[in-house]
Amino acid sequence: MNVSDSEMIKEILIENNDEVTENIDEADVLLFNTCSVRQHAEDRVLGRISNEASRKSKKRNLKIGVIGCMAQRLGDDLHKINKNIDFVIGVDQYKNLPKIIHKKRVKDFTETTVNNSEVYENIYPIHSGKFNAFVTIMRGCDNFCTYCIVPYTRGRERSRNSEEIIKEVELAASKGFKDVTLLGQNVNSYKYEDVDFAELLKQVNEIDSIKRLRFVTSHPKDLSDSVIKVMGESEKICEHLHLPMQSGNTDILKRMNRGYSYEHYRGIITKLRNKMPDIAITTDIIVGFPGETEEQFNDTYNAMKEIEFDYAFTFKYSPREGTIAAKYTDQIPEEIRLERLQKLIKLQEEITLKKYRSKIGTIQELYVEKVSKKSDKELAGRTRDFKITVFEGSQNLIGKFVKVKIVDAVGWTLKGKLIE
Ligand code: 5AD
Ligand code: SF4
Repeated sequence: MNVSDSEMIKEILIENNDEVTENIDEADVLLFNTCSVRQHAEDRVLGRISNEASRKSKKRNLKIGVIGCMAQRLGDDLHKINKNIDFVIGVDQYKNLPKIIHKKRVKDFTETTVNNSEVYENIYPIHSGKFNAFVTIMRGCDNFCTYCIVPYTRGRERSRNSEEIIKEVELAASKGFKDVTLLGQNVNSYKYEDVDFAELLKQVNEIDSIKRLRFVTSHPKDLSDSVIKVMGESEKICEHLHLPMQSGNTDILKRMNRGYSYEHYRGIITKLRNKMPDIAITTDIIVGFPGETEEQFNDTYNAMKEIEFDYAFTFKYSPREGTIAAKYTDQIPEEIRLERLQKLIKLQEEITLKKYRSKIGTIQELYVEKVSKKSDKELAGRTRDFKITVFEGSQNLIGKFVKVKIVDAVGWTLKGKLIE
């Protein structure tokens, strides 16, 4: 989401005749687009801001701005945390950025007014990269999972006009993008007038030169049968779904306010695998949520063993001020959270390797993106189910679709042999 927002902000600034530079030494303004989802994300960006602030001694007019969820959450307080920050702009105020960065004196400035209907209409971001375009279809979130800061920082859920979305995808397609990812905190509840998410998928699917279509993030309580049906029927929708489970224990899911039981989650996976036997499923898991007993943790462990995700992003619960779970009195000690996290990481490593190895001998279509990091004789691309695959081939294949036979799996990478 932040990558996509940064692309949109670049477009806002370029329309104002500002220039974006890849060379930080040239910059007159540094913008830090921040994330508040865990404390770790905030700590890291504060460290980065402190490091870069030393540039001010060499360049007196250098301005430092903080934008994104941490800006929205902390507002004015950020000026107290780091005196080198000149301005703090919240998630609904990016249209004001050109005005603010050109102010002669901008010191201790904060603009974090909430605008729950802001969808940045008529702004068509410059997608970075060459192959995959992220297209935001909705902003905000109304789910209020009890651990999560997002509904407080990004505000109420609102969907973008479907015609604008189609126009943005067509624009990306005309620039050569062939792989599109539709983005939102909860894409399954997309609704604009009479267009729901299933209908939006059908419409994007019609755009000729788009060859691959993905979407994140799905919410298990809202992933409808009609979306699963469209996924099964559309050739362009890739065989990959990111479906955060968060916990494998129904009581913890209830306390998280997730709106589904483990059995419901398990049922969706079965439906998906029935429709698309080769579908890769990835997930997010939180360990050490307040009150999580050893038994409840084991339910998550066993759920991961039962479902066998292709990959899982596993997180230690991080209390976020202002959320309901942060007020729970039965917080889990850090050592236990860490111990549980390590157990899950180890388990998932084994499962991921098994999943990747199961691809050996299969034929996969790759969208070739670049020369491999390890050897300039090898190219790297992604399978439809999002697995990075390297193979020997000439560089004129970059940007093309090729068929390879998978011959090995090393870590999170597949090795292929070009057959077409
Ligand atoms: N602590 C730990 N992980 C969190 N996530 C969201 N909020 C928290 C938190 N307070 C995780 C969830 C979500 C992913 C983006 O981040 O798993 O799906
Ligand atoms: Fe946070 Fe839950 Fe909304 Fe996802 S669905 S952004 S976890 S509140």
